[in-house]
Amino acid sequence: MEALKATGVCRKYGNQEVLKDFGLTLEAGEFVALMGPSGSGKSTFLHLAAGLLSVDAGSIVIGERDVVGMSDAAAARFRRRHVGVVFQQFNLLNEKTVKENVMMPLLLDGSGRTAELQRRAELLLRRLGLMGQEEKRPEQLSGGEQQRVALARALIAEPEIVLADEPTGNLDAKAAKEICKLLKELNAAEKSAILVVTHDPVVAACAKRVHFLKDGCIVASHETNGDPENVSKLYLETYR
Ligand SMILES: Nc1ncnc2c1ncn2[C@@H]1O[C@H](COP(=O)(O)OP(=O)(O)OP(=O)(O)O)[C@@H](O)[C@H]1O
Ligand SMILES: [Mg+2]
Repeated sequence: MEALKATGVCRKYGNQEVLKDFGLTLEAGEFVALMGPSGSGKSTFLHLAAGLLSVDAGSIVIGERDVVGMSDAAAARFRRRHVGVVFQQFNLLNEKTVKENVMMPLLLDGSGRTAELQRRAELLLRRLGLMGQEEKRPEQLSGGEQQRVALARALIAEPEIVLADEPTGNLDAKAAKEICKLLKELNAAEKSAILVVTHDPVVAACAKRVHFLKDGCIVASHETNGDPENVSKLYLETYR
């Protein structure tokens, strides 16, 4: 079963067609990068897939459910269990501890602070190098550490897919590299597929495949070979 299958997706802002018959498939557990010039519609697609924005036409199936046509409440419920989201600006709750932030999707879902949930949060925090920080507030952490908390939160429910929009956009090169390495490790250790939107060839090269967005749809898809120079070359070929 695919982690995500988008077909015929259209989305306009006014009379500007941002996505036009857009299609994209991620197999279960697949790690994919989405690249494209500023304004090409990358964030728009992630918001549609997360059920944070509605489509004009088409379908986006995640796991077994089409997120298109869900009410806002149903989309929020679905997201907590099936979709992890990571944004450039972390979006953590400063009045909660690090560990509470990580558990939040499932706490909101009414799961309660079970021993199992606590263990899962601790396991993820350990994997992300954040042991000993669980009781701190997010604002007491560095940007790179906060983004790792956001990653742990995105993975807590073992979602079908993690959608990450420029997760390294607010980080320096060293912290960005650390996030890339962790994305790769997590993709190998966890069941979730990852779709990462990025302008950075180094980040894109962590993914197995890269898709290029132009004029509203995917115009090219390639293996990254784990090589940022290969990604840069493919980017230039696509958009020259
Ligand atoms: N709320 C909105 N209202 C009107 N137009 C919008 C809105 N959000 C996005 N757009 C337009 O849709 C287009 C695609 O925007 P989007 O944010 O998806 O691009 P992007 O590929 O993520 O760009 P970037 O790389 O700069 O983040 C842009 O032309 C943008 O101006
Ligand atoms: Mg964007």
